[in-house]
Amino acid sequence: MQLHYRGFVFRRQGGELWTPYCLMYTLYMNTQMPHSTWVEIELSAIKNNVRYFCDNSNANVMVIVKANAYGHGALPVLETALRAGAGWCGVARADEALELRRAGIQCPILVLGFTPLFMIEELIVNNISLAAWDIEYLKDVDVIAQKIDLPARIHLKVDTGMGRIGVDYGDAFDVARYLDVAQGLLFEGVSTHYARAYEADIAPTLEQDNRFRNVVEILRQAGICPSIVHSENSAAIINRLDLKWNMIRLGIAMYGLDPSEDCKCPDDLRPALTWKTQLSQVKHVPKGTGISYGHNYITSGPEIIGTVPTGYADGYRRHGEKTVLVRGKRVPVVGTVCMDQFMVRLDSVPGAAVGDEVVIIGCQGMDHISAEEVALRWNTINYDVVSSIGSRVSRVYV
Ligand SMILES: Cc1ncc(COP(=O)(O)O)c(C=O)c1O
Repeated sequence: MQLHYRGFVFRRQGGELWTPYCLMYTLYMNTQMPHSTWVEIELSAIKNNVRYFCDNSNANVMVIVKANAYGHGALPVLETALRAGAGWCGVARADEALELRRAGIQCPILVLGFTPLFMIEELIVNNISLAAWDIEYLKDVDVIAQKIDLPARIHLKVDTGMGRIGVDYGDAFDVARYLDVAQGLLFEGVSTHYARAYEADIAPTLEQDNRFRNVVEILRQAGICPSIVHSENSAAIINRLDLKWNMIRLGIAMYGLDPSEDCKCPDDLRPALTWKTQLSQVKHVPKGTGISYGHNYITSGPEIIGTVPTGYADGYRRHGEKTVLVRGKRVPVVGTVCMDQFMVRLDSVPGAAVGDEVVIIGCQGMDHISAEEVALRWNTINYDVVSSIGSRVSRVYV
């Protein structure tokens, strides 16, 4: 049996009872199975991973659930993370934050990226904090906040070497001083972001941290003390760079995925996501048969070809060498990946039949294809692989 709620599917595994948490999702029940391609998210893995960081850190844990929780589904992941001990959540954009508030999330939320002025009032009213770094922008935010007589909660973003957003660390004091006195602004936090924390060489990160430390120290000497200071992402936390402010921003590692080849998750963590699909056709074709658009693959003898209802519109890339698991065996993807389908060669799985489960990411039998392996084949990173899984791919919570 499974439950459907707000486009999410919750499935009962084995003989286990629904947890009280899952019972919250019993509002809409039906028996439809996702049939083409779906991801299964193990919420107990999210819980385990968040707990690990809560238990091993004195800092408050902000979980990063931008981009639909890196493709895992923002609402169920966040609710699980909060139950596991996280205190804050971070998103990239104002509309992501508002969606969470509308869904009933009450924890503090920080918008990490740029917020256009026309959205400020709605953020303030919904008690959502925002990152900011520019005095002229902050003056406008101040006017809006004073007009509605509610404080705008600001986290000063300092650019210590990421080269993305933030006030340059050399100019941070002036903005902080303005923030400290502006009537409509509540100077809640100060933060920076590391550009190279996932590398084996920790020197560039320590240099960034040094700059950040100087900024915080100068503010303290001037009596400016925002209550929250944060800089560490998963890589900085895992590498135990001893940066230790009073909040950490936990992203990729919460999902049990490695920040990089040089910065792997501790063994206690486990990936939460499995991407599955199933065979929609199996055919025996003769030598010389062209497969898919462009006939980039032509059978070199009689072959068994399976069709899989997943394509690039689901986030399955066209380029790169690929394999998937069928009946516990690795089989190669052959021919061009189409928008909604791709083909596999099934000669090594002679009994393969329509309806057989196909695993794109995850375990089947004794084998396992990790998001990291897929990323390597697609010449990208695991963050990209999971966050690009399309919105029409059902999310099933087990
Ligand atoms: C500002 C900021 N903080 C924290 C994170 C989390 O990073 P990670 O997923 O590497 O833990 C991100 C993610 O890109 C980010 O942009």
